[in-house]
Amino acid sequence: MSTSLTEKFRPKLHLTAKYGWINDPNGLIKVDGIYHVFYQHDPNSIHHGPMHWGHSSSRDLVNWEQHEVALFPDGNGTCFSGCAVETDDGKIKLIYTSHRLDEAGKDFQQQCLVHADRALSKFEKEPSNPIIKNSGLGCFRDPKVFWHAEGGRWIMALAHGETIGQSIGFHSSEDLINWTFESEFGNEDGRHGSGPWECPDLLPMVAPDGSKHWVLVAGIGDEAYAPGSGTMYFIGKFDGKTFTNSNPRETELWLDYGRDYYAAQSFFGAHKDAPLALAWSNNWKYSQQTPAEEFSGLMSLPRHLRLVETPDGLRLSSLVPESVSSAFSTIDLSSGQAQPASGTYRLEETISLAPGSQVTLSLFGADRPQFTFVRDKNGRTRIRQVRDAYGDMNEFAHDYDIDAGNLGAFTLEVFVDNGLVELNLDKLIWTTNVYYPDTPAGAVTLTEI
Ligand code: FRU
Repeated sequence: MSTSLTEKFRPKLHLTAKYGWINDPNGLIKVDGIYHVFYQHDPNSIHHGPMHWGHSSSRDLVNWEQHEVALFPDGNGTCFSGCAVETDDGKIKLIYTSHRLDEAGKDFQQQCLVHADRALSKFEKEPSNPIIKNSGLGCFRDPKVFWHAEGGRWIMALAHGETIGQSIGFHSSEDLINWTFESEFGNEDGRHGSGPWECPDLLPMVAPDGSKHWVLVAGIGDEAYAPGSGTMYFIGKFDGKTFTNSNPRETELWLDYGRDYYAAQSFFGAHKDAPLALAWSNNWKYSQQTPAEEFSGLMSLPRHLRLVETPDGLRLSSLVPESVSSAFSTIDLSSGQAQPASGTYRLEETISLAPGSQVTLSLFGADRPQFTFVRDKNGRTRIRQVRDAYGDMNEFAHDYDIDAGNLGAFTLEVFVDNGLVELNLDKLIWTTNVYYPDTPAGAVTLTEI
C-alpha cells in the first residue's frame, strides 16, 4: 500500500487531526485525570477556513483519542481561539472568540462562553453570547482565562488593538459573564513586527529563590525572532489589574527560537508548579502551503515551563514530561553516527566546545547539517540552523543564528518525529522546526570540526 505524502510525515508521538486543518491549541484543560486539547480546526479542508473547535483527549499525553467536532460556527461567527476553565463547583466552561467580517469587510471579534459537561462531550453556548461585545477594536481575540485568587476574580488576557493589535488586554469578572476592562500591556514592550500579537497566556510562577513572578506569553504573528511567527514572553508582576514588565522594555525573551512553535497555551488547573504548554508546530508564513493531503498541521510536544536563574537573569526553561520523553527510543550517538530504526527517536549528548570550535548535527541522512553549534572566541555559543526550500513554500527555507549565551559544556537533547525536530540546549534554548526529508529515518551524524 502506498503511503501518501502527508502520511509519510505524520508524527507518531505528537497530536494531529485525522482529517482536515488544525492551527492553535485551544481550551487546554485536565479534568478527572484526562487531558483535553481543543484546536482551531476546519474539518472540511486542509486549509484555514471557517474555524470550528476540534477535540482530542489523552490520559498520558502520548496516545490521543479523537472526538467529534466540539464547536461549530453560528450567527455570531466562526470559532476562533480560546480557553477552558473549571469553576470552584466543578463546572467546565469554554471561552472563545467569535469571528466574522463586518459590513466593511473588516475582522469583527467578540468573546463567547460555552457550558460543557465534565466529560467534555456536550457543549451548550451561553444564550447571552457574546459575553464581551466588541467596542471598536480591530483585534480583540484569543481569551485566556484564569482564577486570580488574590483578587478573587477571573482574569482574561486577550490580544488587543485598534488595528492589527500588538498588545495584550486584561479584563476581570466575578461570574465569567460580566466583564470589566482593566488595562492593556505591551504597546511599547518587546517585539513589534508587522504581525499581530495573538494567543496570550499569563502564568503565576515561582523562581528558584522563592520569589513570585508573573510570566506573560504572547504569539508574535510576524517578524518574530525567526522569520514569521514566534512565541515571546515577559517576566513581570500582575496585581489583578495591570501587568508590569520587570525587564527593560526592549528585552525580548523567546520561548522557542525556531520557525514552528506558535500560539503556545498552558493547561488549566494542571501542574501549577510547572505549567504544561503546548504549541502549534507551524508558521503563518507557509502554513497554507505545507504538503497536505489528509491533514494539515500538528502540535508540538507538551513542555513544562519553569523559571530558572541564568547569567542573563531569570529565564523560562522547558522540559518534556518524563512519560512523553520515555515514549521515544533514544539513539546512541557516542560513535558520532547512528542509524535510527524509525523516524521517531530522541538523542541526548553532552557537548563541550572549546572557544573557537564547532560541532555539526545532521539528521535524515542529509549531507548538509541542519544545525551547527559554534563557540566563539568570547565563549558564547551560537546555533546556526539551516533548512532547504521545499515544494512551493516560498518562505520555508532559512539560514540564521541563535545566540544561546555563555554555556560552556551543554546537554543537547533532540526529539525527532517523522520530520518534526524539537531541539534544546540545557532545556533552556529551544528551537522547533518541521522538515520534509526524503528519508525521515535517515542517519544521524554529530561531527566535531
Ligand atoms: C493565531 C490565530 C489566532 C486566531 C486563530 C484563527 O494563530 O490567528 O489569533 O484566533 O489563529 O484561526
